[in-house]
Parts: sequence; structure tokens; C-alpha cells
Amino acid sequence: MAKDFDHMEDSNPSDNPNIHEVSNPARRQVLQTTVWLALLGQVNPLLAMGAKKQGKPGTASRLNFQALPPSVEDFVQVPPGYSFNVMAAWGEAVGVAGHMPAYKADASNTADEQALQLGMHHDGLVFFPLNNSSSHGVIITNHEYTDEGLLHPDGTENWSAEKVRKSQHAVGFSVFETRLVDKAWQMVRPSAFARRITAATQFAITGPAAGHRLMQTAADPQGTRVLGTLGNCASSMTPWGTYLSGEENWSYYFSAGEKMTEHHQRWGLRAKSYYQWEMHDERFDAAKHPNEPNRFGWIVEVDPMDPNSTPVKRTAIGRGAHEGAWVTQTGDGRAVVYSGEDARFEYIYKFISRDKIAAGGAAANRELLDHGILYVARFDADGTGRWLPVVHGQGPLTAQNGYADQGEVLIKARQASDALGATKMDRPEWLTIDRDSGWVYCTLTNNSNRGQNKYPGVDAANPRANNTMGQIIRWKDDNAFAGDRFVWNHLLLAGDPGNERAEAKGNIQGDIFGCPDGLSMGPGGLLWIETDVHSSQLNQGEFKRIGNNQMLVCDPQTAEVKRFLTGPNMCEITGLSFTPDGTTLFINIQHPGESPTDKGDPKYPNQYSSWPDHVDDNRPRSATVAIRKIDGGIIGL
Ligand code: FEO
Ligand code: CA
Ligand code: CA
Ligand code: CA
Repeated sequence: MAKDFDHMEDSNPSDNPNIHEVSNPARRQVLQTTVWLALLGQVNPLLAMGAKKQGKPGTASRLNFQALPPSVEDFVQVPPGYSFNVMAAWGEAVGVAGHMPAYKADASNTADEQALQLGMHHDGLVFFPLNNSSSHGVIITNHEYTDEGLLHPDGTENWSAEKVRKSQHAVGFSVFETRLVDKAWQMVRPSAFARRITAATQFAITGPAAGHRLMQTAADPQGTRVLGTLGNCASSMTPWGTYLSGEENWSYYFSAGEKMTEHHQRWGLRAKSYYQWEMHDERFDAAKHPNEPNRFGWIVEVDPMDPNSTPVKRTAIGRGAHEGAWVTQTGDGRAVVYSGEDARFEYIYKFISRDKIAAGGAAANRELLDHGILYVARFDADGTGRWLPVVHGQGPLTAQNGYADQGEVLIKARQASDALGATKMDRPEWLTIDRDSGWVYCTLTNNSNRGQNKYPGVDAANPRANNTMGQIIRWKDDNAFAGDRFVWNHLLLAGDPGNERAEAKGNIQGDIFGCPDGLSMGPGGLLWIETDVHSSQLNQGEFKRIGNNQMLVCDPQTAEVKRFLTGPNMCEITGLSFTPDGTTLFINIQHPGESPTDKGDPKYPNQYSSWPDHVDDNRPRSATVAIRKIDGGIIGL
């Protein structure tokens, strides 16, 4: 029962404009102009892109490591001069004192034991230093989803309430303490910080949609509390020291029945859920509990330092299949939160808080993300863009048009963005903010439906039909993140110049890759890029020369790219967090051995990968990898 996210993320039937008029290509950066002229039929993109050779002769590279070749080996590989250690694999105890059940390699741990162990399929992760240390801290990692074939000894056979509970306990977050000992990072157990947050943990709902009639259910008539978080992808640290995570593929958990409402349909619900929890937990039957799905798709905030705190869903930032959310601040100290929806033809958002960030950490900023203005992005063809207010009473977002109040606008953020004419993007994944230059970068991982049949065509920001490879876009807002106008361009279009199809060639200056996903600015202003080519496409067709999923470094000033790490078979590389001094980089290896056929037969759990245990008949496990330079220097420089 492995999962194929990439083929299921298209639920936007709205008809916002997608082919923008190209008015003044001469104003654009070279990379972008190439694509635009190609779109206009004025230049052969192969010739124009072929002019860019790998590297930049005569220019000193800032990427001071030896690039790796593509790999099809079932190992993590890093450049000479670097080392790494693996920790915190699925099933390890998080370290709650007196409750540390050992991992059982045959997957026979119970649901109650799973609630005390690392969950499955780690995605975003953040290192929170203790006392600003770079050798001691707390990590929170997301567990995006479960593979039931690996989670239970007999997979989905004999589906039961106990299996549903175990599955519910294998998603959410793990909070654990970690320390650098003899040049390797270890979990500290037991630890007062250790905690699991699962699909059964109580969350508070705050902001304009809290208590809304569309958030009320039989179990929660007030509409202010919900059990669990689902589909958590990317994560980030706020300036006040909390953890933010996005709820992405939550729609797969709900069965909406054959007679689906228009609202359920717009949010990608299906007649039958993917996970079949509803067979033993009725709240996931959306035909019976139509408002329960409205309580997912939010940005979630956790205080890593207080294991007794209640995690919060912040509705003011809007609802979506959020990859994650990333925070900076305006010149006068208000929080600016950028987020995107990883779904085909969905949107990019920005939220600006009403109040300023207060000194005093999490406790002083408990309501900061509950008040402010949400905007959605429109990328215009002239290289500028607008942040359109997603505000009740403005433009089409009126009671007359079916939006009773701001709560309803936020719960129906997709419909609101359709109505506003926002730009439909190629699956926005991670964002990262260069606070010095003001540029915000975002990976658009791929969208093979672009320009196909009934689907929207290309536009300036999403310039390739059948976009299998993805691109990295960047924008710079007026007025130091506060303005409602911006300029934008593409840092690069991913791909392989060896491909026949023009749209799959890309314009990378350096090492080739496809499907950028994780993205983070690291020491020295270098961009770290993690890839997620789906396992059904790895090492074949247009991806033949690209190898297993990998992590690369890009100098955004020159666009030079070098491959830094290659992952084991059928994994994706994700999570990305540095220690304050830049000497350790933590990443996650997610779903090693994912079945390309989506069958996930538990009788052959390591058919494709046996990482990281590499013993007979082991189950491949997602885990955290801590990377260091052998000489203790700063990573990447
Ligand atoms: Fe869960 Fe969009 O990655
Ligand atoms: Ca992702
Ligand atoms: Ca992805
Ligand atoms: Ca994935």
C-alpha cells in the first residue's frame, strides 16, 4: 500500500487565466527570457539553453566540495571530507522516561508502543538548539504518512481497529533530544523533551475559523478542538522559537461517499479514502461527518520546549494542502509567513500579522499568528506580481457570493483564490527566505498535467507543458516583505539537457536533477536543494541519467549547481536544518524502498532497499542523517 502522491494532486477546476501576454521580454533575466522566447516560438530553447555550459570557467566557485556523480546504490553518499551518522529511525523509542519500547524488526510493535516510538516516513525536521548550542538540542521531525505494508507484519490483511490505531500513532511529529558525542549525533534518552504528537493528540484551533459552523462536529460542537495532524510535510522554525508544519495530503484520509459535495470535491476528497481508517474510526467518514475534513489543511504550531503544551492549528494563514510555512519579518517587526500548496494548479500565499513579534519567545507570541491579512500570489507575465488580499468583503469574497465571513473565506481558501484570479502553480513545495537580499525562493516540483487535455496551459511562471522536472521560482516583495507588489523570475528550470523532449531539458548550470522539493538557505547564502523524483520514474526514461534522489547546492548569485549527497534506492531526500554554527546539517531520508508499483508487499519488505539496517529481511526505515565535515568546518563552504 505504498503511496503515489504525484499522480493524485489535481483538484482545481477553476478557469483562472494561465497564458499571460508576454509584453516585454527584454526586461527579463537571461534564464527566463530563454523560456519566454521559446514559448513565443522565437528561439529554439535547445540552442539557447545549450549555450550554457556546466560551471563558469574563470569564475571562482563558492561551492567548495567535490561533486558526487549520480548514484543507483542503496547507500547515502557524501563528498570526500564529509561524514555522517544515521539516527532516529522509524520505531526507535523517542525517550519518554519509563516508556521506551524497543523496535521490533518484524513490525510486531503494538499501537500503544508505536505511540512512544518514532513514527513512519520522516519529512520536515528542525533542530532547536538548547542554549544556542551547536552540539545539543531538540529535534522535531514530521511523519508524513504510513506504508501499511511495512507498518504491520501482515500489511493490510485482517484490517482491524488495532491496525488503524497503530497507523494513527505512526503519523504526526516526534520530539526528541539529541547531543553530539564523539563526532556523532545520538538521541538522548530518556529526556524531559521527548514527546509524540499523533493523529490522536488534541490540538487547539485558533484564528478566524475557530468555532465556525463549518468547523463544528458531533465530537466538538464548539469547533475549537480537533484530534491530530495529518500529512505533515515541510517544517520551519519561527523567529520566536516554535515549530511550524503544513498539513498536505490530509484529503487521502477521508471517504466522502459517491454523492460528494462541491466543497469536498474542490478539496480533492474521494469516494473512498486511501487509508481506510473510517472502517474503524467513523470521524474519517466525511459523508457522515462532513465538517471533519475542514479541520485539516492548516498550518500547525508546536512549542518544542514545552512537552505539555497543546499544539495549535492557525486558521488565519488559510487552509490548503500546505507543504509548510516560513517566517520572516517586516521592517517594523510584524511576522510575514509564506506558504504554498503542494497540489497541481494550486496557489502560493503570504500572511502578514497585525501585531509585531514580541521579545520573550513562544510565550510572548501565543496569538501572533491569529490576527493579520492573508494574500494569494498572482505572477504576471511582465516579471511583476501582486499579492491579492484574501479578505472577506473585498472583491468577489462577499456574502452574496457565498462567503459568510472571514472564517468561511479561510476554510474555502482555494475557492477564494480561484475567484481572485490567482496564478495556478506547478505544485509549490518548500520555500526559503533570504532575509538579506529580500528574495524568497520556492520549489515547484513538477506538474505533468500542465498543458494537457482539460488542464490549464503554460504561463510565464509555469512555462513548461507536461512539466515532469519542476523549477525554482523566486520573488522579491516591495517594502521589505511588507508590500503587495513584487518582482519575480526563475532561478532555474530542472531537467537533463540529454533528454529529447525540450520541456525536460532544463537549464541547470552544473549537476542535473529533477523534481526539486526541499529547499533551504544555508551558511554563506547557499541554497540547498533536495529532490523527490517519484519512485515509479527513478532511473528510467527522462530521469535515466539523474540517479537516486539527492541533495544539491546552488549558489544563487551564479546559479551554479553541485551534487552534494545521493540517497539510497527509492527514497526521497527531505528535512533540512543546520546547527547555529553551520557545522552539522540534519536531513531525513524518507521512504527508502518505496514500491514503484504501489503494491508494498510486506512479504518482501526490502525488495528495493534495505537502508539503513542492511540485514536479511529487514524493513527499510525512514531516518534522520546528521552530516558533518570531518575537520569540523562549516558545511558546504
Ligand atoms: Fe509531502 Fe509535498 O511533500
Ligand atoms: Ca515535499
Ligand atoms: Ca514531493
Ligand atoms: Ca514524496
